[in-house]
Amino acid sequence: MPGGSGTGLSRRGLLGLAAGVGAAGLALGAGAGAAAGVAVGRARASEGAASVHEFFGAHQAGITTPVQDHLHFASFDMMARTSRDDLVELLQDWSYAASRMTQGLDVSATGAVGGDPEAPPDDTGEALGLPASALTITFGFGPTLFVASDGTDRYGLAAQRPTTLERLPSFLGDDLLPGMSDGDLCIQACADDPQVAVHAIRNLSRIAFGRARLRWSQLGFGRTSKTTTGQATPRNLFGFKDGTANILADDTAALDAHVWVADSDEPAWLAGGSYLVARKIAMRIETWDRVRLSEQERIVGRDKAHGAPLSGGVEQTTPDFEATDAAGSPDIDVRSHVRLAHPEFNDGNRILRRGYNYVDGNTDLGQLDAGLFFLSYQRTPDQFVALQRTLSTDLMNEYTQHIGSGIWAIPPGARAGSYVGAPLFA
Ligand code: HEM
Repeated sequence: MPGGSGTGLSRRGLLGLAAGVGAAGLALGAGAGAAAGVAVGRARASEGAASVHEFFGAHQAGITTPVQDHLHFASFDMMARTSRDDLVELLQDWSYAASRMTQGLDVSATGAVGGDPEAPPDDTGEALGLPASALTITFGFGPTLFVASDGTDRYGLAAQRPTTLERLPSFLGDDLLPGMSDGDLCIQACADDPQVAVHAIRNLSRIAFGRARLRWSQLGFGRTSKTTTGQATPRNLFGFKDGTANILADDTAALDAHVWVADSDEPAWLAGGSYLVARKIAMRIETWDRVRLSEQERIVGRDKAHGAPLSGGVEQTTPDFEATDAAGSPDIDVRSHVRLAHPEFNDGNRILRRGYNYVDGNTDLGQLDAGLFFLSYQRTPDQFVALQRTLSTDLMNEYTQHIGSGIWAIPPGARAGSYVGAPLFA
């Protein structure tokens, strides 16, 4: 590992905590690490099982688990002169820390205040006293992890690259900022408390010291989708209900068809995983706010009050794209967002959306720098590409601008005692 650790939190330090617990010492729970539990520990997620999501499992948490209220998303690049072993150890260290933080624990057993007073603490401390807050931490591998932009195979992974994992093509109207796009690795941290999500990314960035560095990151608030039947449909910054027709956690047939990479797909190491697309979409909300209500509804294809399709009914009524008014005009405009994005006009194609609103302060013109940090999970990147191309004629485009983009393969969940991405290195 180059550079050692100026943070005082070395790989050895982290894994040493659980020495003897297995290759990476990733086992969590009754082991010495967890039990040492710092005297002034985190309020250990006792506030109800619903607020804790297991890190280990068949699929990574943070996809079908109930979408939380806050997001901190981060993209990382591996540092120059790092080896395959550095990468594996980083993933082991990240998995270990993530398995603890998602339980409402500090990143290590000595944590924020239980270590040597003469050394910087392992954990940064701002989540002390906070419960797990439904934290999920989801890791992804970008195209450049497999083959770097200059074509080199830094980690001997080129042969394992999923053939469809490529930088997304350019789409009409894209105005992408390099500082908000791409990355070798990504971490999606979602929680019901923003401080818990930020604590996770901050500490994982710190653990990466000398191996990977933050490329860009995004804070999000106010989920713009739902992933379970029990959740109410939230609203985006255009004021419309968003997530009505999303794929939900209990729809296993749809998840298998559209979200999870199947055993029969390639490559084998990705089975049970997915692909994540992130698009930072600026929304011209000041312009939107000057648009009359009926026009806003025409653009979306649903009513603003209840999210019902303009062909009638209630929120969950199936849109009737054939319905017309007395003059013969379709109730749902042919260029409305909902019609263009609907599976009926996309060969049955569906994706699982999990995005967040964002406001990054304001622009020089005194307008809110706001939008949608769009996140979607799909079984193959082609699903997003096809949908986004169909949306090139979307009436909504007048009010949006895609300014950031990234794609990552999302490995399946880590087995207990192992680490995320282990099958890739097997
Ligand atoms: C700022 C940008 C966007 C906004 C404000 C927005 C908003 C909405 C709203 C209000 C709905 C209707 C409610 C629902 O079913 O969730 C919707 C549906 C949908 N959107 Fe978007 N969306 C945006 C971008 C995108 C993008 C980039 C994609 C994919 C490329 C997309 C894909 C979909 C899909 C698949 C549906 C469900 C269509 C259906 O099955 O009825 N959206 N969106």
